Amino acid sequence: MKEHLQGSCISIDAKSWSYQIEILHERYLVHRYFGKKLSGISELHQERSFKKNYGTIHPDRTFNEFSFETELFELTSPGKGDYRVPLFNGRSSKGSSVFSFVYDSHEIMEGILDVPGLPGVYAEEGDSASTLKITCRDEDSGLNVHLYYGVIPEFDTLLRWCCFENRGTDPVSIERAMSFLLDIPEDNFDVLTLHGAYARERTAQRNRLNGGISSFSSLRGISSHHMQPFLGMLSPETGENSGSALGVLLVYSGNFLFEVEKTAYGTVRITSGMHDQGFSWLLEPGESLFTPQAVLIQSYEGLGGMTRTFHRLIRTRLCRGEHRDAQRPVLINNWEATYFDFTRNDLLKLADEAHNVGIELFVLDDGWFTNRSDDTTGLGDWQEDRKKLSGGLQELSQDLLKRKLKMGLWVEPEMVSPGTRLMQDHPDWVLGYPEKELTMGRTQLVLDLAHPDVQQHLIDTFTRVFSSADISYVKWDMNRCIGEWRSAYLPPERQGEVSHRYVLGLYRVMKELTERFPHILFEGCAGGGGRYDAGILAFMPQYWTSDNTDGVSRLFIQHGTSMIYPLSTMGAHVSEVPNHQVGRSTSLDFRLGVSMAGNFGCELDLRKLTQSEKQALSKRITWYKRWRLVIQFGDMYRLKSPADGEDSSLMIVSPDKHLALLFWYRRLHDASLLPPVIHLSGLDPSFRYREERTGASALGDELMHRGFPIEEPEGDFSVRIHQFVREESSASRQL
Ligand code: GLA
Repeated sequence: MKEHLQGSCISIDAKSWSYQIEILHERYLVHRYFGKKLSGISELHQERSFKKNYGTIHPDRTFNEFSFETELFELTSPGKGDYRVPLFNGRSSKGSSVFSFVYDSHEIMEGILDVPGLPGVYAEEGDSASTLKITCRDEDSGLNVHLYYGVIPEFDTLLRWCCFENRGTDPVSIERAMSFLLDIPEDNFDVLTLHGAYARERTAQRNRLNGGISSFSSLRGISSHHMQPFLGMLSPETGENSGSALGVLLVYSGNFLFEVEKTAYGTVRITSGMHDQGFSWLLEPGESLFTPQAVLIQSYEGLGGMTRTFHRLIRTRLCRGEHRDAQRPVLINNWEATYFDFTRNDLLKLADEAHNVGIELFVLDDGWFTNRSDDTTGLGDWQEDRKKLSGGLQELSQDLLKRKLKMGLWVEPEMVSPGTRLMQDHPDWVLGYPEKELTMGRTQLVLDLAHPDVQQHLIDTFTRVFSSADISYVKWDMNRCIGEWRSAYLPPERQGEVSHRYVLGLYRVMKELTERFPHILFEGCAGGGGRYDAGILAFMPQYWTSDNTDGVSRLFIQHGTSMIYPLSTMGAHVSEVPNHQVGRSTSLDFRLGVSMAGNFGCELDLRKLTQSEKQALSKRITWYKRWRLVIQFGDMYRLKSPADGEDSSLMIVSPDKHLALLFWYRRLHDASLLPPVIHLSGLDPSFRYREERTGASALGDELMHRGFPIEEPEGDFSVRIHQFVREESSASRQL
């Protein structure tokens, strides 16, 4: 980070881009540049004033060329002539919604600062990271805005967040507090978003950006199955391997909003942060409000370049703890095998089978606690059900260990079922208006995590549960959306704070429990992938991608998810056919092939498999264990999207490019197509690779440019997995 022109210009430089800010007339924070790396401050900058602009000239005529309506800003003042989507809205104690933020000071600090109470990307020793903090103030109200810009040059990543600090003498009501604002002096973009539903999470959609305001949001209390807190801004010509791609990811798990405004003047403004609908925050004198961190990744190597930077960043600078870099176990989860209907004996039979095929971890899903024979009851009273589990959790964990299986446990801490002891003891711990009809989701209610007593209760309860047996893994579920934002704990004037306080409470509970149990591998879940976001991944290094385990659906879900999230975070389990979610039958080989491109596991009743199916599974598990370091921690290249026809493919390459895997899938077969030739990606052009299955050997450039021929598939739902090993090295070497 460099200051120029007596500190009136600041340049933030990453590996391949520069971001420049000007403090204009010692007052205004103007955006100068965000693009390919520059060697110095751009001298060419001119205020691009709009001469015909009749509405918003500056009252002081010495600011002749200056227009609030068209200038590119880092921060503007609501009510002063900038009619674009704002970073901030509020009301002072005098009732004014007009704030005049002017530059006050700035400082540059080493490293990436923490965002108090919120998760975020961090820097490690050796990173040349720094953080710029710019403070602007509004004289009338005493409200200060601190804009933060964190940069980790090695990761081409810009981190942005804000803090609103009341340094006045009266309270200020904050009604919109976005994490950042970015003005772009061009408007020719495609917008990439990840849209979906339960069991169809994160489907990639790319559209032209049209005039006006496009918004992408969640008001479901969770980041949601329906829209990912992510936005890609792509040049129209951008593809997988070339072109400019800006990705913005919000590190937040609650209601969020992205707005992209294509103005009438050929510019674009992007803003993102907590959703402002229903939100307000009463800031008393001396108090501060921090916004979630937004991660901006600018790639000039297409979508693939953006993806690989996100993957590397999330894997190594967002995820944390001892499991961050550790290979992930092959697991079996009993959910689709038994649902709620099991006994200890059933579980142990399943465990015997699991051990025989090489599985390492047995996850006991929903239904292990009292009064839980279906999903209408039981949540909140976290006592093991001795009728189902004679001997309890501890004995079960010992029995599993005898079978060389570690034990995992499902929990859903944030919820309570009507009729439970917890609900009777603490009716005021539930979100909503108990005097009215409470809104149910999956026949359960949501605990008020804005309430510190509820947070403490969860910390104490789950400390007890996690200590009650040898538990190595926890699946933290959350199975409904939240809309009824009323907390009995907070006074009426603070009810607009509940949705954000819920998320802050959740983060406190997750932080405390994950720190108390550093050896436990935590996996997030929310009715499948309903809260698969960077906020949760900062505490839990993996996530259950979707309840939809059908191979075909998973190709699309995993493809969309891969835009941002690394394969080490992506739970991918093989399940039985006909598939429980969509009723489709596909070959075991195909289902295995799809789920091996992620954190592999089984979600089926192994007792029902034929001998030859068990053999096939066991063989694949052996293969997976050999290759999992590449799969979980390698660089991923999307070769063909499942949305582009019946064939799709991807590659994963070890960071040193000695090892590579090709996954190729065909859904429906065609009688008259020639066998496909796939152009590989990510190899070293000068290395010679041997393909292990066929024994074929070729140079990297040949495999990438001329391509690799795929053997003729036999029918529907076929898969080919090819492993490439640099001739001089051996496949068994570690990453
Ligand atoms: C959610 C999860 C499933 C399973 C059930 C249990 O739907 O996504 O994997 O754990 O809850 O009730």
